[in-house]
Amino acid sequence: MAARGGFNTRLGFILASAGSAVGLGNIWKFPFEVGAGGGAAFLVVYLFFAFVLCFPVMTAEIAIGRSTQSSPVTAFKKLGFSKWSGVGYLGLASGLLILSFYNVVAAWSFGYFFEIIQGHFAVGDSFSSYTSNWIKIGAYSIIFIMGTAYIVSRGVSQGIEKAAKIMMPTLILLIFGLIIYALSLPNAFVGIQHYLLPDFSKMTANVVYSALGQAFFSLSLGMGALITFGSYLNKDADVVTSAAIITFTDVFIAFLAGLMMFPFVAYVTEGDLSAMSTISGEEAFIFETLPAVFESLGPNLGVLIGGIFFLLLSFAALTSTISLLEVPTAFLVDEKEINRSKATWSVAAVIFIIGIPSLLGAGASSFFSEFVILPGQSSAISFMSFISMVGGSTFLSVGGFLISIFTAFVWRKQNFSRAINLENPSLISRWLANYVHFAIRYVCPVVLGIISLTTILNNYFGVSFL
Ligand code: PHE
Repeated sequence: MAARGGFNTRLGFILASAGSAVGLGNIWKFPFEVGAGGGAAFLVVYLFFAFVLCFPVMTAEIAIGRSTQSSPVTAFKKLGFSKWSGVGYLGLASGLLILSFYNVVAAWSFGYFFEIIQGHFAVGDSFSSYTSNWIKIGAYSIIFIMGTAYIVSRGVSQGIEKAAKIMMPTLILLIFGLIIYALSLPNAFVGIQHYLLPDFSKMTANVVYSALGQAFFSLSLGMGALITFGSYLNKDADVVTSAAIITFTDVFIAFLAGLMMFPFVAYVTEGDLSAMSTISGEEAFIFETLPAVFESLGPNLGVLIGGIFFLLLSFAALTSTISLLEVPTAFLVDEKEINRSKATWSVAAVIFIIGIPSLLGAGASSFFSEFVILPGQSSAISFMSFISMVGGSTFLSVGGFLISIFTAFVWRKQNFSRAINLENPSLISRWLANYVHFAIRYVCPVVLGIISLTTILNNYFGVSFL
């Protein structure tokens, strides 16, 4: 079998996994979900889901990967449960689907970085003609997926780990810089108030479902990305505390993104944050409104702050596309024994091709732009939104549900315990491990099962449980 490589240090593993988790989901989606879901009211539900439900699933994923030293499909087989490799295939499918549209959004962000640093703030006025220019966006998305493939093709320690060690600290610096700047803008305080004061009247069942979907997507759970990264960990690495640190980092950076975004929105709307729940979408705010904000700062400061913002977005996207590309690549390496570089570049080409409908569905083709009207909805959604719902929400929550069932009832307690318990555990990791055992058996299967089912009925059949 071909050498698989591995992380040099546990820090490298944590940074790469946190890089996978921290992405467009944190910076572009999260603040707007909070805005529409009642500020701190949403935040509380989100924190509950992240730590109570998602953290145990993350621990299980990393433990499965680490103990089998294999990517998902192979991992289930190695544990002796070949039928469960279906969960690995489901993860592969969701990874391919997510990456196919994620790469297009990453290309928009990366393209904006180029426009803004040249002082072209006017791109914001013509966002729809920007996204419908499929040749230009197609070129950006080829560059983005090639950059991703270049890093992944270099291997785990020389590619993924090195990139994460540079990009993650930079990302944190950039976000702190932007927060300090955003807090100095007029009405910043009004924005922060809106963010941190709860409005429980906005807490509907739909908000609760979307909080869970957002938590899964944001933590990169349910598709085996962390099984794959875990498979490159040393057999004696501490899984439970690593999972806790990754969960915490992801939630913390999402929280920071809110501290940056709410003051920006308050500045634009002159303190009228009601706009936050009616803003027709985060897309419009980020790609149409923000460039105008940057322009109003004058040519030099505008280029600087705007450039930093879109660089931040592109970096966040890149550390996530790396992990999304690693999953199918590792599958080809482990299962089909294909050489890593060949595997990476072929998957990248396939991703670009299956991303074409998403590329065209942002204005260039009306068929893909108004792709489907779902039951219970009045207007059509684009191919990209549809694929994001299938691959990014449904598949992930079903995958997470199955992983928790597998860990609790098929793999069983003694094996899972052996996989996560250390020879000399610290008090904290022992305490966390006890919690994970309890939650993976008694909490995750029930709650994830109910929420996945109700979300499916709601999204695809228009059945509402309000
Ligand atoms: N977690 C990433 C984000 O928030 C997206 C992602 C999902 C990455 C699943 C890998 C796997 O943007």
